[in-house]
Amino acid sequence: MSDKKWRAHNPSGSNRVVVTKELPGDRWLEILAQADCKVEICTSTDILSLEEIQAAIGVQCDGAIGQLTEVWGEKLFAALKAAGGKAYSNYAVGYNNVDVDAATKQGIPVGNTPGVLTETTAEMAVALTFAAARRVVEADKFMRGGHYKGWLPMLFLGELFWHKTLGVIGAGRIGATYARMMVEGHKMNLIYYDLYQNKALEDYIAGYGAFLKAQGEKSVSCRRAESVEEVLREADLVSLHPVLNETTHHLINKERLALMKENAILVNSSRGPVIDETVLIAHCKKHMNFRVALDVFEDEPEMRPGLSELDNVVIVPHIASATRWTREGMATLAASNVAGILMGYPAWQDPDTSPFLRGDPPKAAPSIVNAKEVGIPLYND
Ligand code: DGY
Repeated sequence: MSDKKWRAHNPSGSNRVVVTKELPGDRWLEILAQADCKVEICTSTDILSLEEIQAAIGVQCDGAIGQLTEVWGEKLFAALKAAGGKAYSNYAVGYNNVDVDAATKQGIPVGNTPGVLTETTAEMAVALTFAAARRVVEADKFMRGGHYKGWLPMLFLGELFWHKTLGVIGAGRIGATYARMMVEGHKMNLIYYDLYQNKALEDYIAGYGAFLKAQGEKSVSCRRAESVEEVLREADLVSLHPVLNETTHHLINKERLALMKENAILVNSSRGPVIDETVLIAHCKKHMNFRVALDVFEDEPEMRPGLSELDNVVIVPHIASATRWTREGMATLAASNVAGILMGYPAWQDPDTSPFLRGDPPKAAPSIVNAKEVGIPLYND
């Protein structure tokens, strides 16, 4: 028997929607109430077990909004289906915690929350980049420890990025936005690896380079690499933005770390298992000028032994998307996914989900990743 507390919003609603965590803002609740939903929200900050979620779904449940910390696989989708469930949305853009095939098998549409995380996450990746390169956390600790006895020429020397080489692995929305921030702000030359060419990013940087030249300044460049290895060898700073799947699990391993410059900076705000954390710790112990910033961890919320003792590693608890605007936007999109499906709306196709954040949102579910597979009509088709 679970001891977790739940609260209900719009208790007279006829569709029952289970939400496994409190979400910020009120708009998402209004969206679900307008779709005649009774919303049951778990008020505990503890991560719910499969059994607790299954018990919450119970015998009648029309939809659910879950978290990236929960494994939504065969068991939960079968339970949701048996309870009459018609929709699930992850409260995240990433959905490596969701077995989409299992949901599809049960005919359940799966939503996610793209678009609203892009700039927020990229900005945090920039913050982490500088925290690592300029040793902000170490220096803060030093000050608080009362060790500062006066300005010194060699106190906390770090790395300068101006006109150096930026490596980005995974140049989707967040990776490309981070790349633009670093290229525009710090005049870095970009080398990126992605299975797909990002022509818009390449054109943008070419245009920016031409602009700089016209100002009499040194230009910037952008090149798509043939391999991850090429990026790691050349870059002074590498930021990771791939999706997590079997091809990107331990993408950064011992052999690849060995290719990186000894004083390189490595930033990960994607998913923890993209890096083999154990070998990363050994590498950081051996190369004290190699600096790392991590927002995500291999066995989240745990850290591998030794990681937290390293001064050349900055660690934060998966907060790259943690701005109020973004987290409220994610809630709006997740609620609109579930409400949209329950209302019988089609699936939105445009990668721009911002119309759902405004006053008169489209009559659609903003992002259903298996819409075609489960036969949801597409908006404007
Ligand atoms: C996501 O939405 O996938 C993020 O990791 C949450 O910060």
